[in-house]
Amino acid sequence: MENFPLYQALKDTPTLKWKAAQKNELPLWIADMDFPPPQQVVNKLNYYCSNNGLSYGHAEEEASLALRVWMWEQHQTNLKLFHTRWVSGVSQALALCIQSLTRVGDKVVLMTPCYPPFYRIVSQLNRKVVSWNMVDDGKQFSLDFNRLNTILVENNPAMVVINTPHNPTGRVLTIEELSIIQQLLHERETYVVSDEIFQDLVYPGYKHIPLVKAFNDSLLERTVTLVSASKSFNIAGLNAAAIYTSSNRVNQKLAATSSYLLGKPCPLGLVASITAWNECYTWLDKLRLTLGQQRDSLSNLINSSETSLQMYLPQASYLAWIKVSEHTESVSPRDWLFNNTGIDLTEGKDFGSSWENYMRLSFASYDEILTYATREIARLFCSDKDIDLL
Ligand SMILES: Cc1ncc(COP(=O)(O)O)c(C=O)c1O
Repeated sequence: MENFPLYQALKDTPTLKWKAAQKNELPLWIADMDFPPPQQVVNKLNYYCSNNGLSYGHAEEEASLALRVWMWEQHQTNLKLFHTRWVSGVSQALALCIQSLTRVGDKVVLMTPCYPPFYRIVSQLNRKVVSWNMVDDGKQFSLDFNRLNTILVENNPAMVVINTPHNPTGRVLTIEELSIIQQLLHERETYVVSDEIFQDLVYPGYKHIPLVKAFNDSLLERTVTLVSASKSFNIAGLNAAAIYTSSNRVNQKLAATSSYLLGKPCPLGLVASITAWNECYTWLDKLRLTLGQQRDSLSNLINSSETSLQMYLPQASYLAWIKVSEHTESVSPRDWLFNNTGIDLTEGKDFGSSWENYMRLSFASYDEILTYATREIARLFCSDKDIDLL
């Protein structure tokens, strides 16, 4: 790695994963991108920095309008009659929903494998996680509706958290799947929180369906959606996310938590989101093309018959959920990879206890980096060490 000029340049990136990486380590674990955000966003932030724009700011209304236009143009979803509130991130938004809409001791259903901090959010608020495991049906990860029904009947959860497009599997839930979820929840009192943070990073052939388009009015009374420009435009460090709901009742409950306690989103995060949504759809189109190519070449090598690895093509996101079969080492596949190559992926079991044979790789990086990483991974997990994979 040390010999790659690009690696040297990336090592100087002042973000969490690169600052934490030691010499010769290649961090592909966190869900962010090695690509810079759109130039328009950078220019706007520079303008604020050079024009004393770092004092108190206020851009919530403008951000809600930009989101509304974005949702209409990109996702054909009309948010005109919806309440929108701004927080510092989707994780905080989920915490607020759990605290406002459920009680201590209540059960919260998470679709698993699940973005790891969500487990901590539920337990730190003294609620109980009920895992709804996705199943590998041999073609993709699918939803087990019988299991969801049993969970609802046996646990009477106060909340179900849906995540589409899904991290880490990259599944985009279909209208049929969302309709079944609606049928199962229709007669109950359960709240639904939908984390749609990856809504914009969907590949050709798939379509993100915001839950609010699939649910009927009565269920919308209990539904909240969480979105952000952070993943699509690589601005997660700017701390801004939106919560939208059509329900007055839910909105009032969310408003009951003091905004002084909650804190506010960073004004620059709002400015960056507004700029991204208003001006950067062409940039996003190009990004999706690049990510689609990265995804395909990664998958070709990972799925080659010589390796003990397997991944389904993600339908969205820049995350690959890689299964390692026949792993006999005493440490996890992620640790085995890291100890042998310095390539740092996310540990499968962090996403839930049934996923210890998996690792998650973020492939939003440059060709040179990804090609190197994929070859190293494929070599290490190659069943026949004599075969030169490339
Ligand atoms: C599915 C999902 N939800 C939520 C988050 C967290 O978002 P935020 O950084 O806005 O808290 C992430 C971050 O990777 C994620 O992948």
